[in-house]
Amino acid sequence: MAGRVFGQSVDEFDAWMRTIDEKNQSVQRAIAEKDAATAASDARTLQDTFKLVEGFWSKRGDAPYAVELARNAQEFAAGAVKSATQKDFEAASSQTIKIAGTCTACHRLYRPL
Ligand code: HEC
Repeated sequence: MAGRVFGQSVDEFDAWMRTIDEKNQSVQRAIAEKDAATAASDARTLQDTFKLVEGFWSKRGDAPYAVELARNAQEFAAGAVKSATQKDFEAASSQTIKIAGTCTACHRLYRPL
């Protein structure tokens, strides 16, 4: 039973990662095309999805650095939403570079689950 619950949460986690992967690419494309509305909406989805990722690791309770990275990613995403909304594409771009930095840092330590 416990295994089944855990199995389901891994599937859920992978689905979040696929959303994050897609939006991470889409937000950079939107910034390059100076499409503020799409960039802001993609960054918002990243922020919301990293919130779920943070909750996953908080609940697991054994990876404080993963929690921190997921929090950092949310902060950078929030920054990207703000910059994109203000059409400050240069700032938005530097936030998305920081978001991408969290991917590598977390994957190196915690992948696979
Ligand atoms: C806080 C940790 C953390 C962060 C931050 C993170 N990931 Fe992941 N990601 C993981 C872990 C752990 C796995 C492996 C999941 C598994 O074993 O099923 C993973 C798996 C993935 C996968 C494979 C999903 C699948 O279907 O198997 C993709 C794609 C992915 N991440 C993309 C990203 C991208 C892009 C970013 C940054 C924008 C990112 N991740 C940020 C922890 C993280």
